[in-house]
Amino acid sequence: MNDQGSMAQTELLQADEAGIARAAAILREGGLVAFPTETVYGLGADATNADAVAGIYAAKERPSFNPLIAHVADFEAAQIQGIFDETARTLAEAFWPGPLTLVVPVAKTCTVSDLARAGLDSVGLRVPAHPLAHALLIEASRPIAAPSANRSGRVSPTNADHVLSDLDRRIDAVLDGGSTQVGVESTIIACLGDAPRLLRPGGVPREAVEELIGRKLEATSAEAENPLAPGMLASHYAPHARVRLNATLIERGEAALLFGGSVPSGLDGARAALNLSENGDPKEAAAHLFSYLRQLDASGAAVIAVAPVPETGLGEAINDRLKRAAAER
Ligand code: TXA
Ligand code: MG
Repeated sequence: MNDQGSMAQTELLQADEAGIARAAAILREGGLVAFPTETVYGLGADATNADAVAGIYAAKERPSFNPLIAHVADFEAAQIQGIFDETARTLAEAFWPGPLTLVVPVAKTCTVSDLARAGLDSVGLRVPAHPLAHALLIEASRPIAAPSANRSGRVSPTNADHVLSDLDRRIDAVLDGGSTQVGVESTIIACLGDAPRLLRPGGVPREAVEELIGRKLEATSAEAENPLAPGMLASHYAPHARVRLNATLIERGEAALLFGGSVPSGLDGARAALNLSENGDPKEAAAHLFSYLRQLDASGAAVIAVAPVPETGLGEAINDRLKRAAAER
């Protein structure tokens, strides 16, 4: 890629053996491939190759070298990269493969580059559950560093079109696996010797983790984390429209993002309206969240008014993302 960030056509790869083989070959050569996970699409590079990892930051225009999640095929591969205490092991065994990232101390045998870890002595590890991601990791046979495959600060991608609308000609290929199932990013938990801490709510609900380990997760404020996790920046996941939260009334010309059965007043005057989940199911709502934000943004409305979403289950992750989408820019 050149300094302007433009490169040749981005290859659209099908979800078959040939597509996976091509994606793995590009990754092994140091290229950039977006691929589906069960949460969102990731922008992958060989985590052991610092030049390849640098390409991720350039393509995303990520402002600084924040640490990336290293994706691995299974728990065994994860244990080459990081040191798992009892809690981390319990969590890995219960939730992997799945939408959970564990931040653990680096192992002596770690091959994830310093750049991917942003020079930290910890490493963020995840075993994704998506069959295409798994096949790609097996075929590439190395850890793959992958942030969400969007331009920095923008809405995370849940299908291949979203990826191309942000990154066409900036990355080598996208492996098309259709729409992702979970729809919000992984839950991130730090297990660094002290009490486990929730760094980011995500696809595994806090309640499920707390029930498993039999204790409350320490709350970590973004300011307490150094370096600040970019997914934790105040303004993130932002559409072009302004986002207004907890709307019970829709102003004329606004786009409306609804949840559940209650109909806000003024809905007839809305420019566009989508319901995250008619039955008020937070899981279904999470799967729709980013795609609906993009669709309502495309309506051209200046404001997206969002109905209240309860905090339970995946609601915590949904509200976290909505708050960041609504933050001052
Ligand atoms: O679901 C997901 O997690 C998606 C898919 C592609 O796996 N990935 C994702 O990556 O959301 P990204 O880069 O958008 O967010 C990764 C988060 C960042 O907030 C980063 O700071 C944090 O993980 N992170 C990674 N390694 C870390 C470490 N060693 N210490 C603290 N935070 C870390
Ligand atoms: Mg992201």
